[in-house]
Parts: sequence; C-alpha cells; structure tokens
Amino acid sequence: MTKPFLRALRGETVTPPPVWLMRQAGRYLPEYRAVRKDARNFLEFCYTPDLAVEVTLQPLRRYAFDAAILFSDILVVPDALGQQVEFREGEGPVLEPIRDAAGLDRLDPGAVVGNLAPVFETLRRLSSEIPATTGLIGFAGAPWTVAVYMVEGRGGTDCGTARRWAYQDPAGFGRLMDLLVEATGLYLVEQVRNGAEAVQIFDSWAGVLSETQFRDLVIAPTRRIVEHLRAEAPGVPVIGFPRHAGMMYEDYVAETGVDAVSMDSSVPLAFARDRLQPRCTVQGNLDNLLLIAGGEALDREVDRILDVLGGGPFVFNLGHGIMPPTPPENVARLVDRIRGRGG
Ligand code: CP3
Repeated sequence: MTKPFLRALRGETVTPPPVWLMRQAGRYLPEYRAVRKDARNFLEFCYTPDLAVEVTLQPLRRYAFDAAILFSDILVVPDALGQQVEFREGEGPVLEPIRDAAGLDRLDPGAVVGNLAPVFETLRRLSSEIPATTGLIGFAGAPWTVAVYMVEGRGGTDCGTARRWAYQDPAGFGRLMDLLVEATGLYLVEQVRNGAEAVQIFDSWAGVLSETQFRDLVIAPTRRIVEHLRAEAPGVPVIGFPRHAGMMYEDYVAETGVDAVSMDSSVPLAFARDRLQPRCTVQGNLDNLLLIAGGEALDREVDRILDVLGGGPFVFNLGHGIMPPTPPENVARLVDRIRGRGG
C-alpha cells in the first residue's frame, strides 16, 4: 500500500487527509530541548546524524503524523558553500554578508554535496527507521530566501539590500541566484538518492517582492529546480512554499510545475479550493498561533479547513512552523480531531 502522504501528493483525495507540521521537531517538545542542550551549536547538531535522527523521530513517537521531515536547516547550504554562518542563542542565524563579486568568488557550488555528507547519512538512517506508512520529506530553502540570508546577513528585515542589489546589478545578483539554483538542485537530488520520498522548497521571504521580482526571483529559479528534479529524480513530488505570496500563489503553481503548494494562514480557503486545488495538491494552513491557543477555537478552525479543502487533494499542515510556546497536548488534540473525521 502506498503511503497516504505520497498518495495525496500524487493528486488523490485521501480521507482523512494526511497530516504533518512544519517544525514538528523542535523546542516545544521537552525531549527535543533535552537533546539540544548537549549540542555545541545548532549547525553541529544538524551535522550529527545520531542527534538529527533522534529528534526527527521524536514527534513520531508522540503523534501519528503521516510524514517525517529531515532535521536540518535551510542555512546549511550557505555554510556548505563556504560562507560563515552562525546561530546565536535568542538571536537566530547571523551570516557574514555577501554583497559583491568578490564575495561570490569565494563560494563553491560544487562543494555542497560533499560538505553535506552527514545530512545524507541522516536520511539513509531515517529511511530504514521510520514506520512503513510514514513518508520522509527532504527540503531546501528556495534560492531567493537563502539569498536574503546570504546578503542581509540575517532574516526579519524588509530584504531591502537584496532587492536593491537585484534591481541595480541584475547580472551580479543573477550570478548568486544561478549558483543557488545549481547547488539546491544538486543537494535535493542527493537527498532523494539517500531516501527522501518528497521534497519541500521553503521560500519564506517570497511575500516581500514586487510582481516583477516575484517572477524573476521566486517563480523562475523554482521552476529550474523543479525541472532539474524531474530529470534527475523523476516521480518524486515537489512541494513549494512561497510564504505570503498572496495573489501570486496562482501563477506560482501554474508556472513552477510543483506537485503541491504549502500555504500560509492568510490564504483564503475558498481561493485555495477554487484556484489552486484544481491544479495541484494543497497543504496548510492552520494559524500556528491557534495551536498555542488550543481549545474550541482550534477545533472550529480545523473543521473549517477540513470542510473546505478535504474534498480534494490535501495535506493538513500549519501556515508556518510550530512555535516554542505550543503546548504538546494541543498537537495531540489537533491530530485526533483530523483522524476523527475518518473516511
Ligand atoms: O521540523 C522541521 O521542520 C525540520 C527542520 C527545520 C528547521 N528549520 C530546524 C530549525 C526546517 C525545515 C527549517 C527551515 C528553515 N530554517 C526556514 C524555512 C521555514 C521558515 O521557518 O520560514 C528558515 C527561514 C530557517 C532559518 C532559521 N533557522 C531561523 C530564522 C532560525 C531561528 C528562528 C528560530 O525558530 O529559532 C532557525 C533555527 C532553527 N531551525 C531551529 C530549528 C528547530 C531552532 C533552533 C534551536 O533549536 O536552537
């Protein structure tokens, strides 16, 4: 029997729908915090297969999720390219910014697959350890979102430095994007060779762009990565997550060729049903704050999402990752609620 998660990604309506949650392994779980406190730093943690396998499996022991996502981070790619990347406690990632040709000259896309060997080992071990009905998801950041961190040196800005570079020096910025398209394509294919059964491309900063830049910096590079995967890893479903893309979700789906689109919580469900679901599987989009709030408000919104999207190809998820203050019992309540709607 094919795994329900993969059936849904291939366009089947699965009832009840499969469910997994972005950041399902993470600080809201006490057992994650216990493992995390012994690691020297976050990147070392990601590069230690024993620890990465353990924390990937932790949420599966508590909840009947339909998929596991590799424990790693989108910023292992700049690290593997040779940029200095650091995760600071309470501050998030900090990178030595790259803003010119000299900075680009120091990056080596050919080094990515070799430098990320521990990630592939984690995937190989996971593929033999996860339950037979659970899917295994690999992932990478999309070129635009990774470029934002590489150029700005951190997230949470308006991405102005990166956007200005792209407008003022399209050839220079294009070199960075080309390098990331190449590195990301190689990296994802290698993840598939080592056991990933589907891949998700996270474009967390897609929502800050003008229409023109969205087409050039989100749709076009993502499409190239999808084409590379189609050629080198045929049949492996690709999930795209252009967070906060608003009205551009529709063109993103039509033009990138993704098999599924993950939607942030601002996407109206009727729009998702009428404009996106006829073309691809949709994934999402419960507000991660409701998972903190819990109670009947959570139940009502879960039901509303299932009522509108459950009649077509759908994977239940959040609109963005689980946050640290989330009570683990609310996650159990959510999964039970979805499962309670059996077919
Ligand atoms: O469970 C999973 O979803 C798999 C692992 C995963 C992590 N990061 C682990 C992580 C995945 C898929 C990511 C993706 C990621 N990383 C994105 C795209 C999705 C999104 O959230 O928009 C981005 C932008 C990053 C970059 C990043 N990593 C930031 C901004 C931070 C700091 C903010 C924070 O939540 O702490 C991280 C750190 C990080 N990545 C943590 C985890 C579990 C927390 C660090 C810790 O445990 O100390």
